[in-house]
Amino acid sequence: MSQTRKALAALACASLTGSALAQTAERLWNFTTYVDLENSILRPNGQLLFTTLTNPQLYTVDTTAAEPKAEVVRWFPGVTALNGLSKVGDDKYAVTGGVRGSFHYTNETVFTIDFSESSAANPNVTALEVVATLPDAIMLNGLANLPSNPHILLAADSRVATIWRIDIDTGSVAPAINSTLFSADANATAPIGIDGLKVSDDGAYAYFTNVYQAIFGRVPISDDGTTLVATGEAEIVTQFTADGTWDDFYLNGTVAYGAQDPSLLGRIDTTTGEQTNLFNITELAGGPTSVTPKGDGLTWLLTSNGDSAGALSGEVWEIIL
Ligand SMILES: *[C@@H]1O[C@H](CO)[C@@H](O)[C@H](O)[C@H]1NC(C)=O
Ligand SMILES: *[C@@H]1O[C@H](CO)[C@@H](O)[C@H](O)[C@H]1NC(C)=O
Ligand SMILES: *[C@@H]1O[C@H](CO)[C@@H](O)[C@H](O)[C@H]1NC(C)=O
Ligand SMILES: *[C@@H]1O[C@H](CO)[C@@H](O)[C@H](O)[C@H]1NC(C)=O
Ligand SMILES: *[C@@H]1O[C@H](CO)[C@@H](O)[C@H](O)[C@H]1NC(C)=O
Ligand SMILES: *[C@@H]1O[C@H](CO)[C@@H](O)[C@H](O)[C@H]1NC(C)=O
Ligand SMILES: *[C@@H]1O[C@H](CO)[C@@H](O)[C@H](O)[C@H]1NC(C)=O
Repeated sequence: MSQTRKALAALACASLTGSALAQTAERLWNFTTYVDLENSILRPNGQLLFTTLTNPQLYTVDTTAAEPKAEVVRWFPGVTALNGLSKVGDDKYAVTGGVRGSFHYTNETVFTIDFSESSAANPNVTALEVVATLPDAIMLNGLANLPSNPHILLAADSRVATIWRIDIDTGSVAPAINSTLFSADANATAPIGIDGLKVSDDGAYAYFTNVYQAIFGRVPISDDGTTLVATGEAEIVTQFTADGTWDDFYLNGTVAYGAQDPSLLGRIDTTTGEQTNLFNITELAGGPTSVTPKGDGLTWLLTSNGDSAGALSGEVWEIIL
């Protein structure tokens, strides 16, 4: 049985925007056992990097291949799961990971992985570095950086209800912004508060999702090079509807594109809060976890988390709007 499903499944997917042009989606890759894909980012060469909560391996899948296949880039030491991903330089990325418990991680660590020395002939020449550890973090989730200062990372902590500031050059770590809009009830079945996180291009706002509160929000920020502060209260941009809540998202100017439960690519206009369902992958296994544009914003890559109970593996889909 083939693991890759360059799929006829596209036929079963439904366009939601009423465009006259055909919208399609195809499954690029799925594992054969349960793997919980979490975050993704596209390298300039068309390789999609993704993290999983199931193991401490960073994977890559060549989205330009006729038969895309996920391969391990590197094992990460001292952790059992990887989560956040953010670009911090030329083909250089920050990755967060920790030792996974039940909604509680230990040894939360920030790594950087640098592909600048790798080539088609030597794809595995990558420099992996531990840049910081966060003993007081409980559940690092979305990861972003400041556009003007890419070495400054912002990491959402779904349990501490804080945004940590991490300087990957010095290794310094500090809890920077707290808000009740980041929190979840500690006794909830899934106590996941702040989840996805991105900073606007002008560096003026950090946008976030909160899974427990089912909101998309933002907080105005300022960083003087050593300290990150909120310059105002965090606020709700929009409350998610019964159509579904977002996990991670991509921000382009005033438009956010989100991995929307249970099977959707969603869109939010951050100036009005207006929500649109862009595409429904009716055959998706598990829930959407991250979305990444491929090119001009008409092609999107979406990862899913599978389902441990149903033995569904996580998947990578390509959606063409
Ligand atoms: C992944 O795809 C293969 C090939 O179609 C399929 O047989 C398998 O059931 C899928 N794996 C899971 C766990 O869904
Ligand atoms: C924590 O992670 C670091 C960095 O990978 C590793 O060196 C260390 O052994 C880990 N510690 C534990 C307790 O797992
Ligand atoms: C790169 O590393 C992967 C995973 O360890 C391995 O399967 C693959 O063969 C390596 N590729 C090369 C060209 O060394
Ligand atoms: C934010 O929360 C963290 C973690 O609980 C705490 O250490 C820090 O002092 C808080 N900061 C502010 C400004 O309240
Ligand atoms: C959960 O905690 C909240 C307060 O944070 C409390 O109001 C609620 O009763 C608790 N629920 C359960 C089931 O314990
Ligand atoms: C997405 O597709 C599923 C399966 O066909 C359907 O149950 C659901 O209502 C659709 N969602 C939307 C928002 O159209
Ligand atoms: C981002 O927005 C710009 C301006 O509207 C547009 O030209 C570009 O294609 C968009 N890119 C993505 C990835 O959405």
